[in-house]
Amino acid sequence: MIKPLNKSEFRLDKRTKQIFFGILLLYSLVAFHLSNKKYAKFITAPEISNVALPTTSHVEQLNLKELRVKDRKLKDLREQLVMAFPYEPEKPIPRRIWQTWKVKEDSLDFPASFRSYQRDWTEAATLQGFEYMLVPDDNIEAFLQNLYGELPLVLKAFKEMPKNILKADFLRYLLLYARGGIYSDMDTFPLKPLNKWPSVDREKLKTFKETRKPVPYKGFKSEEVVAQNEREPGLVIGIEADPDRTDWSDWFARRIQFCQWTIQSKPGHPVLRELILNITATTLYSVSSVKKTAEELIDKTHKNDYNVNYRDKRARDSHYDHDETKTDKNVDGSDIMNWTGPGIFSDMVMQYLNNLIQNNNDVLLLNGNIYTPTTVDPAEAAAQDENGVSTKKFYRKIIESLLVNRHIPWEFFTLITEPITVDDLMILPITSFSPDVGQMNAKGMDDEMALVKHQFEGSWKGDAGHD
Ligand SMILES: *[C@@H]1O[C@H](CO)[C@@H](O)[C@H](O)[C@H]1NC(C)=O
Ligand SMILES: *[C@@H]1O[C@H](CO)[C@@H](O)[C@H](O)[C@H]1NC(C)=O
Repeated sequence: MIKPLNKSEFRLDKRTKQIFFGILLLYSLVAFHLSNKKYAKFITAPEISNVALPTTSHVEQLNLKELRVKDRKLKDLREQLVMAFPYEPEKPIPRRIWQTWKVKEDSLDFPASFRSYQRDWTEAATLQGFEYMLVPDDNIEAFLQNLYGELPLVLKAFKEMPKNILKADFLRYLLLYARGGIYSDMDTFPLKPLNKWPSVDREKLKTFKETRKPVPYKGFKSEEVVAQNEREPGLVIGIEADPDRTDWSDWFARRIQFCQWTIQSKPGHPVLRELILNITATTLYSVSSVKKTAEELIDKTHKNDYNVNYRDKRARDSHYDHDETKTDKNVDGSDIMNWTGPGIFSDMVMQYLNNLIQNNNDVLLLNGNIYTPTTVDPAEAAAQDENGVSTKKFYRKIIESLLVNRHIPWEFFTLITEPITVDDLMILPITSFSPDVGQMNAKGMDDEMALVKHQFEGSWKGDAGHD
């Protein structure tokens, strides 16, 4: 017969149980805590709400070239971008071609007219040992997730862009910033072997740097310059528009516009970083679906910097509804131009170059278009070309602006027929990426400087894709 449990025995048993469950609870708490900690290590992406979105204007206090992240406490998106893709100027430009299109090249929907251009690129790539990458729409998400997974604000901005053309522009900057190489639109084809570009041709680079005299600016200390004769430039861009006419502002928003259908760069270049920062911040604040989140992150003393409705002329247009947020219904050509397109691209380049010479005394400005190499006295050259069609006719204004105001004027880039460099940026003449356009002094496809032919089949960008 089983003896019934007396009270004290029962109590003891209850206490054992309590202890047992107590230990179990403690164990699971500790285990949970530990596993959480371990898990946290893998989530490197900071909370969106912790990361400030600085503006790229009002950066006089920052040396955009020398920006280094000292500790791991990343306080804003600029620092996150530096950390994610550190710039290594001493490395060569990656030998890689990027193109993007709606579908893969083997799809029936791949436009026939692009097939031969694309073959030219892949052949040029193979000949010089370049890697060729075509990123179709279906792969973009995975690609960006992989590259920018630690930068959720950038991914969010890309996702929320209300037009495909904005995404197409943004994507090229993101690919080049992360991996470097040459990006070129689908409606372009190469005209010269890729190793003959002035940016990578060792011999040409060396001769160029040895024979061009540095253009001085206020504060410039030539003795501080470290010669890097064969180092490849970090960012290589071409001129898209250079309207040498007095009424240019009736037709163009900027006197010098750089093109972004073909760009060559090393990964992590600071110009691309500033551009990505500007586009991300502008998108998050200008698009209705995300504006609320962005409001918490922006620099509130400069709210209008973030609003795409406040760029240039539009800022002064009292009839324009500046508070209207952007959707796929109300984005126009001006928006695109100044949000992701050549407008903002050109602005960021100019702003960066001026920041460079305002904050550094050792920036090398090489411009053989105003200084004829070694032989001719520059002032004499200017006098010779007072009524001519070369950069030299602006000699006095350029030098004055540099020496007095420490500012690189647009004239520095106008009418150039040979590459110029400012620090590690190389700017190619209009002929390089726009030969045969029949205006603005562009020469033909067979010119020595012509590198890429652009067919201007612009409508391809359309918005037929994933809208
Ligand atoms: C973006 O760049 C434009 C042109 O330089 C500037 O006016 C604007 O303030 C910038 N905005 C942000 C958020 O960086
Ligand atoms: C943007 O670009 C256009 C050229 O498309 C230019 O005329 C305009 O002044 C710029 N600003 C705005 C806000 O549209």
